[in-house]
Amino acid sequence: MCGIVGYIGELDAKEVLLKGLEKLEYRGYDSAGIAVRNEDGITVFKEKGRIADLRAAIDTSVEASVGIGHTRWATHGVPNRKNAHPHQSATGRFTLVHNGVIENYHLLQKAYLKGIQLASDTDTEIIVQLVDLFVSEGLSTEDAFRKTLGLLHGSYALALLDREDADVIYVAKNKSPLLVGVADTFNVIASDAMAMLQVTNQFVELHDKEVVLVRKDGVTITNLEGTVMERAPFTAELDASDIEKGTYPHYMLKEMDEQPTVIRKIMQAYTGEDDALTVDPEILAALNEADRLYIIAAGTSYHAGLVGKEYFEKIAKIPVEVHISSEFGYNMPLLSEKPLFIFISQSGETADSRQVLVKIKEQGYKSLTVTNVPGSTLSREADYTLLLHAGPEIAVASTKAYVAQIAVLAVAAYVTAKEKGIDVDFDLKQELAIVANNIQTVIDRKDDLEKIAEDYLKIARNAFFIGRNLDFCVSLEGALKLKEISYIQAEGFAGGELKHGTIALIEDGTPVFALVSQKAVALNIRGNVKEVTARGANACIISMEGMAEDDDAFILPKTHALLTPLVSVVPLQLISYYAALHRRCDVDKPRNLAKSVTVE
Ligand code: G6P
Repeated sequence: MCGIVGYIGELDAKEVLLKGLEKLEYRGYDSAGIAVRNEDGITVFKEKGRIADLRAAIDTSVEASVGIGHTRWATHGVPNRKNAHPHQSATGRFTLVHNGVIENYHLLQKAYLKGIQLASDTDTEIIVQLVDLFVSEGLSTEDAFRKTLGLLHGSYALALLDREDADVIYVAKNKSPLLVGVADTFNVIASDAMAMLQVTNQFVELHDKEVVLVRKDGVTITNLEGTVMERAPFTAELDASDIEKGTYPHYMLKEMDEQPTVIRKIMQAYTGEDDALTVDPEILAALNEADRLYIIAAGTSYHAGLVGKEYFEKIAKIPVEVHISSEFGYNMPLLSEKPLFIFISQSGETADSRQVLVKIKEQGYKSLTVTNVPGSTLSREADYTLLLHAGPEIAVASTKAYVAQIAVLAVAAYVTAKEKGIDVDFDLKQELAIVANNIQTVIDRKDDLEKIAEDYLKIARNAFFIGRNLDFCVSLEGALKLKEISYIQAEGFAGGELKHGTIALIEDGTPVFALVSQKAVALNIRGNVKEVTARGANACIISMEGMAEDDDAFILPKTHALLTPLVSVVPLQLISYYAALHRRCDVDKPRNLAKSVTVE
């Protein structure tokens, strides 16, 4: 994870770097630092904690127009000042920020750096010490940088400053995201375009293992062999206001509120000239040719994949397996003859998913990425992409991207079914329009949901979420939302499964949230609720109109049976949000987490 930025130009680098890091804080927020270079040399500021702590620690009198910065999610070495980036070589000549993991750092240390006293516990420091070593042996900085890159195994996005040369930032990436932002009088680098929208919307894509020299008046990209690569910039289609909180207290609240709009945007984006839902014909052909779909994802996206399986099987009649990406890559099941891989990833950067993509590509299989971020690694590297059109999601806990993933998967399954000539007995567009309104109805009842959070979770140590069929998929997501942001231990269960062991944990007052939106199993789940209430549980039933009973805590507006996850997840998101607020948790940046997990 981690986020990096760099600036070389005429403005005060400190401010551009700090503002950039604030926008990248979603990538990690346990410590941060910047290094700036001026005629006095390189000055490093770093702090444990948030960017605000770093900002407070900076000596504003230091002026410089070149610098690099980093916000960290610790992998090697605890989050403290010593391990915060930037890291410097023993001589102080080189200063480096790094996002990623160097797998062979111990071996490199033993082979090359025996005599050097390391200042941190990080893998990153090895890189900067190696550059210094190779320069001391006579190489130019660029050649030393190149030689060092050749020795690294793992993932990296790097920016390096040389005390002896104020005119350049040395940059490279491998498997971790990094862009160069360009303008007339300055150039910048950033892990995400969002960080530098403050100064430019023109960005140049970098490819793995290129060596890039960023100067005030130009950018030189060379490949491993040293050949210069020409690459035109693209315009980042992001609106600066998309990434601001506006009047909202939290991004998570803003993003939950955006969910009806997201559904409508998806309908618009996937509507063709004939007013019917449509998907790129090449993607349709790939879906049609596949004898089995393998959905690969992590976290919330995995939960969306579970719902997607139902769509492709029930609507398009294609068998589907859903796998957790970190498991799949190292323990592949027996594959069908004509598989199509579908990677679901909000960020398009998740390393666990990417390692699977790399492996299945090596085996010659086709892939489709469903992502919110055009141009992201998974999007670039897969054969096809379906975009979520959800707008930037900043809160670490995913909300609008989850509903967007489900809606896009529904569209893909529906259009595939039509293409196959399968008789589908509902009009998805019409039903999605109802979904958008229904989500709004739930959102408009925030007060009721805040009250539920207070009644059921104020003093809870743990909580259970149960459901059957599609409600089971949503209960997994409901439990994840609650634990991520409120730190209440929460588990999602298939309604019938709790009694096979975990019911032992039910005590007087244990909250159990039960979803009742699937008619075929409504009575069964109500039976499961009786089992837990008989043992003292405080059951909160969230049911759907048409299946509701008098004592139900919250009633969802009537929604098409296959699309209920899009609506039933919303009260669970909001209950989690208010439970976290009651506990004074940092809703947008929960402890130990990061939005984009670019390490395995
Ligand atoms: C992180 C985030 C989760 C997210 C998961 C997968 O762990 O904290 O909210 O669901 O990554 O992310 P992706 O970008 O691949 O959907």
